[in-house]
Amino acid sequence: MGKGLLLLPFLFSLLAAAAAAAAEARANKSSSLEGLFWATGKDESELLAMVESKEEPSAREDEIDGFAGGFSSLDGMLQWAIGHSDPEKLKEKAMDVQRLSEDELKRRRLEIKELMEKLKTPSDAELMKIAIADLNNSSITLEDRQRALNELLFLVEPIDNANDLDKLGGLVVVIRELDNTETDIRTTSAWILGKASQNNALVQNQILTHGALTKLMKMVNSSFTEEAVKALYAISALIRNNEIGQRLFYSEEGYIMLQDIMGNSSIDIRLRKKAAFLVADLADYQLQYADNSELHFLGDRFFLKAVVDLILTPDLDLQEKALLAVRSLLQLTSTDASDLRDFCSLDRILESTRKDLEKLMLEEDLRDFVNEIENLRREVAIIFHSKLEKVAWVPT
Ligand SMILES: *[C@@H]1O[C@H](CO)[C@@H](O)[C@H](O)[C@H]1NC(C)=O
Ligand SMILES: *[C@@H]1O[C@H](CO)[C@@H](O)[C@H](O)[C@H]1NC(C)=O
Ligand SMILES: *[C@@H]1O[C@H](CO)[C@@H](O)[C@H](O)[C@H]1NC(C)=O
Ligand SMILES: *[C@@H]1O[C@H](CO)[C@@H](O)[C@H](O)[C@H]1NC(C)=O
Ligand SMILES: *[C@@H]1O[C@H](CO)[C@@H](O)[C@H](O)[C@H]1NC(C)=O
Repeated sequence: MGKGLLLLPFLFSLLAAAAAAAAEARANKSSSLEGLFWATGKDESELLAMVESKEEPSAREDEIDGFAGGFSSLDGMLQWAIGHSDPEKLKEKAMDVQRLSEDELKRRRLEIKELMEKLKTPSDAELMKIAIADLNNSSITLEDRQRALNELLFLVEPIDNANDLDKLGGLVVVIRELDNTETDIRTTSAWILGKASQNNALVQNQILTHGALTKLMKMVNSSFTEEAVKALYAISALIRNNEIGQRLFYSEEGYIMLQDIMGNSSIDIRLRKKAAFLVADLADYQLQYADNSELHFLGDRFFLKAVVDLILTPDLDLQEKALLAVRSLLQLTSTDASDLRDFCSLDRILESTRKDLEKLMLEEDLRDFVNEIENLRREVAIIFHSKLEKVAWVPT
């Protein structure tokens, strides 16, 4: 008898101990994670059934039956068992095991195999499938629906998962939830779409193709602030550096939406910041790729006035975003400098902002940030005046 065969029963006992302990540890972990793994509408056995029916059913069989083939993963478990077991108990177990009959050993092997199946943590794709199936199930409770969305929100963060979402039917079911009667459900769904499309042209285009932009733009009108904020976040992520998305946005009068938000001081400040940020972003894109093309909606004087007026806001963060937007807009050939002077009073506004910032500079804790804004304000003034001079120098 080779040494390996003598060791075999002992290995089984170690594995059994490891499996039991790991199962317990996992049970503890999942409850402390608020049941991230098992929190869906399905119970554990259903989930395990799904896990088991995945791609390669025979692979794990080999691991158990032929030690030569699959020893590496068992080895990891063995190390774990050795680290987490009481040596006295293990020794006792090993003695027991050596007295077992062939049949008994076979039964043990089956038990271990079952334990190992249970030990397998489901992959992200499997978890996404479960959440998507739940969302696609109209008889699920509201609470479970919200939970499935929360799980997706977490799962779509890695780009590979976001890329899988449409393949698994996830975008369709999430976009459908934008029409849910519950605000929270709509809000989380918009948030998921924003997260999944962030810096991801593939997902951006998939979501645009599914027609979600129009729905999101309606949601920005919501009287529920959080819903409006998440919808605008999603729009921003969806059309960022995406010409198709931006064309669609303009054709749906997105610039009027932004103008209404920026120009209305009773609208939540987070929404106004997001709007100003998006304006700067759109102008930068136009500057970089599309200036002199037909994407010329940002030159409207009422639109410009809404942005310029934001510079006067007492909120420094919003003021900074407004200055950044004006800086970008100023550089567009379509922006008329004399409009900015005569219609928007940019001269006067920059000057009064200079005085306000000077006063704020006296406050120690604000000084760095105020300095930054003052530098930006100065830069805007320089660009503005050089643009005005060009206008003045046009031969008549
Ligand atoms: C799991 O939790 C129980 C009770 O909270 C505790 O007694 C046990 O040691 C924990 N097990 C592991 C492996 O963490
Ligand atoms: C839908 O959810 C209900 C309630 O949780 C469940 O009983 C049913 O099996 C689910 N249907 C599918 C197709 O998963
Ligand atoms: C949702 O359920 C319908 C049938 O009710 C099915 O045709 C569709 O494929 C399901 N979608 C997903 C993503 O599971
Ligand atoms: C949002 O509301 C305004 C004012 O009520 C309206 O003019 C605009 O069309 C609405 N926008 C969308 C996208 O529904
Ligand atoms: C400004 O926003 C408030 C709150 O969203 C809204 O009720 C009001 O109609 C808006 N005012 C204008 C002029 O659009």
